[in-house]
This record gives sequence, structure tokens and C-alpha cells, in this order.
Amino acid sequence: MKIAFFSTQPYDRVFFNRENQDERFEYQFYDTPLGPHIVQAVNDVDAVCVFVNDRVNREVLEVLAERGIKIVALRCAGFNNVDVDAAREFGISVCRVPAYSPEAVAEHAMAMLLTLNRKTHKAYNRVREQNFSLNGLLGFNLHGKTIGIVGTGKIGKAFCRVVNGFGCRIVAFDLYEDKELMEMGVSYVSIDTLYKSSDIISLHCPLTPENRHMINHTSLQHMKDGVVLLNTSRGALIDTTAVIEALKTGKIGGLALDVYEQEEHVFFRDLSDTIIQDDTLQRLMSFPNVLITAHQAFFTQEALTQIASTTLSNIVELLQGRKPANEQAIVV
Ligand code: NAI
Repeated sequence: MKIAFFSTQPYDRVFFNRENQDERFEYQFYDTPLGPHIVQAVNDVDAVCVFVNDRVNREVLEVLAERGIKIVALRCAGFNNVDVDAAREFGISVCRVPAYSPEAVAEHAMAMLLTLNRKTHKAYNRVREQNFSLNGLLGFNLHGKTIGIVGTGKIGKAFCRVVNGFGCRIVAFDLYEDKELMEMGVSYVSIDTLYKSSDIISLHCPLTPENRHMINHTSLQHMKDGVVLLNTSRGALIDTTAVIEALKTGKIGGLALDVYEQEEHVFFRDLSDTIIQDDTLQRLMSFPNVLITAHQAFFTQEALTQIASTTLSNIVELLQGRKPANEQAIVV
């Protein structure tokens, strides 16, 4: 079985090779993302394997279909970068890894919240410079604060458990209520009530055409002054320009982003020697109360092992004409 992997990094190769000790699969690894610019080069493979920022649009899918490629395997959970209707039309199956380690993302969200609030990243640098002053490092207790969680699927639920351990009050918004969470004390409220009552808001819903830019000028106005926002889901849930304005006025007291609307142009690359052309990102990075990580919330040993094994088993099942055991793995 031949698989072409796009947007690969050294760690992808390590974890996928580990799952191929018996050399059942023949891999082609490409650093470049998949998109219209490169799709013509895809040939003689059974499946293509892509990640969060590959552009699997109609044009790409049409060429894949012409080449007889029947499977696009996402080695991630989100599939907002795939034109699902076009895939269906061209008879291409799209699969994903619906749950590889919700805890990996939830724990990273908490790591970001603690860093942003208690400023451990600044303290670390200060102490190395023999500056033992505490001025400017003041934080607040998470205990007793209200955290609003948007989307209580696998990751949102794992994050609820984490913040519950910190003694926070949890309000949540989802299209479906989770009984187990309600028994744990989570209150489901309207999105507007969540905005109004939360000291901290964390996004864990998928990106859809309906909720694109759900954090915008209007929704920000409904939030508490000094609200702390966390986004480990997808960048386009946030209107970055609106958020920059709210940071300038102090409406937003802290912002932690593991995802960014225009991340495909910068994330997963070492650009330390180049001039970044994205002025919005540069402006965001200039705020002392903004913490950005480059889509690393999933990045644990456990998650990468699970991603490789589930992706390969999805491909095998589909190539052999079966459906993956986990129905949620099937996108189309
Ligand atoms: P999931 O499918 O288990 O849960 C998503 C939840 O969001 C569901 O309960 C769904 O009902 C709810 N939802 C859907 N639309 C909504 C809306 N408009 N408003 C409120 N809730 C809504 O997905 P999971 O595994 O929890 O992942 C969530 C998202 O996290 C993914 O879609 C992906 O974008 C992101 N993600 C980010 C990673 C990272 O490394 N930063 C890694 C993995 C996922």
C-alpha cells in the first residue's frame, strides 16, 4: 500500500515508521503542504495523508480523482480544510483521527492559561538574568473563577475535568448537553450568558462556516472587561482584527492562542532568519499579555502514536472495502 504524506515533519516520519516495522506500507514523505501547486505531482499511490493546513479543495480533489486516488486520510481531528462536498462528488473517501488524545490538547490549554496568568515564561527569563523582582508578575487565583467552555466534545470535556480540579465554576455552551458533565456540576447556558458570565473563555468547538469569527466585535462587547480568551481549536473562530482592538482597549485581559487564522503561512516552520510579512501576527506578538504557541497542543508521545496507528488502520480498512470501526473516523 503506497501512501503520499504531505506537510511532514521529522517526528511524523518517526512515528509512522514505528508503525510500519513489517514494511507493509510504502511511504512517500513530502515536506510541502498539499495544494493546487503540487497535486499534479501525486502519482501511483493508494492514498494521500494530510494535516491541518493542507488545502484539500475542489481543484486538488479533482486531480486526485483523475489519478485514481480514492482515499484522503487526515492525520488530525478537524477537517475544515477539506471540501467535503467535492470529495463526495468525486467518490473520494475522507477519514480522520477523531480522538487521539483529548487530554493532550486539554492539558496544553491549561498550560497556556497558567503561563499567561502566572507569567512563568517571564519569570524564567528574569531569574536567568538574575532579576529576582516580582513587579509585573502578578496573577489571579483560578480557584473560584468562572470558566466558559464552548464545545464540550472530547477535548472540551477533558478540559472541564482539568479546570474542575482547580475549583473553577464551569459554564458551557454546546449544541448537545453532556449528562456526565452536568452531574459534575457544569451548567449549560446560552452563548450570550457564557460571554457575560465568564472570567475565562476557552474554545473547543470545530470550525464551521456558521461559527467562523464567532469571537468578533459584537461578541466581545458582551464579555466581561479583562476577559481571558483561550483558543486551541481553530484560528478562524476568532476575528483577529477585532481581538487586537479589544487587546488595545483592555477589554481582553489575556489571550492564549495555539491556532491562528493565517497559520498555514508560518506555523510548523523555523522562520527565525526571515522577515515575517504578516503584520497582524506581528502585532499580536507585540502584546505582553498574548501567548502564542504554534499548533502544538496535540504534540505528545501518546497522541502521535495514536495518530499514526489510527491513520494507517483507517487507510487499510478503506482500501479493503470496509469502514473504519470508529464511525466518527469517516468524514465522507
Ligand atoms: P468533538 O467533535 O469531540 O467535539 C466538538 C464539540 O463541539 C461537540 O460536542 C459539538 O456538538 C460541539 N459544537 C459543534 N459546533 C458547535 C458550535 N457552533 N458551538 C458550540 N459547540 C459546537 O471534537 P474534539 O475532539 O473535542 O475537537 C474539537 C476541536 O479541537 C477540533 O474540531 C479541532 O478543530 C480542534 N483540535 C485542535 C488541536 C490542536 O492541536 N490545537 C488538536 C485536535 C483538535
